[in-house]
Amino acid sequence: MRPRALDELPSWSALRTHADELRGRTLRALWDEEGPRRAAALALDARGMRLDLTKQRITPRTLALLVAAAREAGLPQRVAAMFDGEEVNVSERRPALHVALRAPRGTRIAVRGRNVVPDVHEVLGRMAAFAGAVRSGAHVGASGRPLRNVVNIGIGGSHLGPEMATIALAAYAKEGLRSRFVSNVDGSDLWAATRDLDPAETLVVVVSKTFSTLETMENARAARAWLVDALGEDAVASNAVAVSTDERRVRDFGIDPQRMFGFWDWVGGRYSVGSAVGLSLMIAIGPERFGELLAGMREIDEHLREAPLERCLPVLLGLVSVWNRSLLGHPTVAVLPYCAELARLPAYLQQLEMESNGKRVMLDGAPVRWPTAPVLWGEPGTNGQHSFHQLLHQGTEVVPAELIGFSEPLHPIGRHHDLLLANMLAQAQALAFGRGAEELRTAGVPEDQVAHRACPGDRPSTTLLVDGPLTPHALGRLIALWEHRVLVEGVMWGIDSFDQWGVELGKELAGGLADELTATEPPELTHDAATNELVRRLRRARGRAV
Ligand code: F6P
Repeated sequence: MRPRALDELPSWSALRTHADELRGRTLRALWDEEGPRRAAALALDARGMRLDLTKQRITPRTLALLVAAAREAGLPQRVAAMFDGEEVNVSERRPALHVALRAPRGTRIAVRGRNVVPDVHEVLGRMAAFAGAVRSGAHVGASGRPLRNVVNIGIGGSHLGPEMATIALAAYAKEGLRSRFVSNVDGSDLWAATRDLDPAETLVVVVSKTFSTLETMENARAARAWLVDALGEDAVASNAVAVSTDERRVRDFGIDPQRMFGFWDWVGGRYSVGSAVGLSLMIAIGPERFGELLAGMREIDEHLREAPLERCLPVLLGLVSVWNRSLLGHPTVAVLPYCAELARLPAYLQQLEMESNGKRVMLDGAPVRWPTAPVLWGEPGTNGQHSFHQLLHQGTEVVPAELIGFSEPLHPIGRHHDLLLANMLAQAQALAFGRGAEELRTAGVPEDQVAHRACPGDRPSTTLLVDGPLTPHALGRLIALWEHRVLVEGVMWGIDSFDQWGVELGKELAGGLADELTATEPPELTHDAATNELVRRLRRARGRAV
């Protein structure tokens, strides 16, 4: 039996009516009416974080209705099903068990009758031994020199998580160790990552769940040749390792399975940073710090299972996201970390949110009747304030914003951190309350400028303030918070958050076009006329007959 669709939930029509009512009320009016009660009712302290929803277009009744809808949609049961290893990835008939990646030793989580937790810890142990040996210099390259550079080759989930986290946790990385990431099949990516590296001091980590992704395999072959040309065939054994679920393909590629770190089909790419996919991160920050990242994730897993829905951070985040998207109709969301280290967080979250929930059919294949995932984008503050925040404040599209900050700096310098956080708080205020024409006139603004300078406000935002500085543990909590928020949204939308069939068509078409672009003989072209012409033009440019 399929779960109840969003518009079949008993609370749905009350939510629709309620959304219509709130659409006509400004955030300032809500604040004027409810005053400080909003802070008590719409902000939550949990797990070392303050989630402030007071500047969203919601009231306590909104949250009550959303939580009721979540119960009606069977959210607690769906969460339990995920933790129990049921095949919640319906279209691929697989569990989605990223929570097993951080389950404590001794826990039992069975997949098709097998407890996978010992397997997880066995791989973590091998990763720790290897990472430790690289870091200490006990593991050396083919020419006997220690490895000081790590080049991670992978794309999508095999890139974004490790890269985002390695940049985020650079303050905890081993000094003198350089981490580079190659993802794009544009040769410039590999060139830029390796141009100043000595192959003798470089470890290549090829990360691919399937070990068949075009971009990754092309880059991996080129990197292998780069190593072998400089150091000879032996370099593959000492200067390259693989992370994959497919041992046969790893062996066929020429990497000894002894040098492979495995994971499993029940780990989705975008949920995989806590698995062996995080090997290059572990080499950078060390096994202990990596363990702290996993502990942070585990803390939010426990919170998801234990906290009542109305006091559960990822549940509230997910429900408010559904509210903004499906009831108020906001098409995008901006993620604005007030933390320079989280520069790649928006890119990471783009995959997590949009590959998971950018879906148009429900679990049974019927079309959804409500908008699903928003377009997610963002940049760290304060940088964005001097560019696209103009649109956030005065543009014609209302963009719900999510501001993320840490109470303490990683690198204390003068007044920097106070100024950074002052800006974060200021943005939430300016977005919500704006500055009206009367106030400008009172301040003496010339009449011909008033309309241009007025900020309407009434633009919703969430502020997430994390206690302390950015640590591996805090990053782990943030990652799991988002993973579970995406799950909550997916349950409400009734979709499969764990498949990604939409990316396949482009891959297939690119394969055929690559053959046509590179064929020695002019190929017979059967595309639309414009594409045919572009293919011919490219063949000519590359000196091939047309
Ligand atoms: O093309 C999409 C995708 O399958 C992502 O879901 C995944 O993270 C990425 O490609 C990389 O896949 P792989 O790890 O198998 O190379």
